[in-house]
Amino acid sequence: MKIAFIGGGNMGRAMLSAILNEGLATPQDIAVSDKNKGCLKQLKQGFDVYITEVNLEAASRGDIVVLAVKPQNLDEVMTEIGGQLNPRQLVLSIIAGKSVATLKQGLKHKAIVRAMPNTPAQIGMGMTVWTATEGVSEEQRASVGSILKAMGKELYVTDEQYIDMATAISGSGPAYVFLFMESLINTAVDMGLPPDEARELVLQTVAGSVEYAAKSDKGLAQLREMVTSPGGTTAEALKVFENGKFPELMKQAVAAAYKRAKQLRG
Ligand SMILES: NC(=O)c1ccc[n+]([C@@H]2O[C@H](COP(=O)([O-])OP(=O)(O)OC[C@H]3O[C@@H](n4cnc5c(N)ncnc54)[C@H](OP(=O)(O)O)[C@@H]3O)[C@@H](O)[C@H]2O)c1
Repeated sequence: MKIAFIGGGNMGRAMLSAILNEGLATPQDIAVSDKNKGCLKQLKQGFDVYITEVNLEAASRGDIVVLAVKPQNLDEVMTEIGGQLNPRQLVLSIIAGKSVATLKQGLKHKAIVRAMPNTPAQIGMGMTVWTATEGVSEEQRASVGSILKAMGKELYVTDEQYIDMATAISGSGPAYVFLFMESLINTAVDMGLPPDEARELVLQTVAGSVEYAAKSDKGLAQLREMVTSPGGTTAEALKVFENGKFPELMKQAVAAAYKRAKQLRG
């Protein structure tokens, strides 16, 4: 399959690298356009793909045209390539907050996929939620599924509002987890542990807990209770989380992200 990338920054590069690693395309099948010459040079050196500064030129080389620029740069891209795509081409946008309606209108194109990946996609551990317009064929859906799987897990949804919900959960989620980890590391250091050891303890605790939960047939509440002996240390800490209204705080934080996702979509 021939794939064009408009934007070869962090996410574009992550997708490109995943596609090549999985053998879904060869470097000859891939074209990338970007305004950043340094970025293009790195892509040429790293992957030997076709590079150009002209978006329309890259776009014309793809069965799938991936839009991977920042949201604030979408309008200029749509001005350049809008109305010039072949109806058989598929547009796959990973641009946060830009709706299918905006893309359809700006590109004057019917076959659109909107996807929301997250940063762990950069190491093949991402979670991507995506939706497609009616103009996207079964074959194109299968190709999109295989591209997104190359970056981790993928989940297809029929209703675009689930993309906004996913933005608040899995899209922003890595930042919530990093905040939790940062706080735990800082607390460990304040308590007297050396910083490197504190970091190792926390990273392995989070990684181990995730793997354990994924492999266990028990629910998360049950796993939590198994760590919590009555009158023990964990129970004391959990009491503090409850008193500080941690679950309520989580609800408020996610609600704020969801509200913002809907505002950005317009
Ligand atoms: N990073 C993530 O984990 C993540 C997760 C979900 C969704 N996304 C979405 O993915 C998109 C890309 O994010 P990113 O982190 O990869 O951004 P990025 O690293 O800034 O990459 C975007 C690239 O596009 C270039 N560019 C700017 N204007 C352009 C134009 N008119 N035509 C062609 N190229 C242009 C930029 O060049 P300059 O550097 O010169 O501006 C940059 O090299 C964003 O819309 C974001 O919402 C990212």
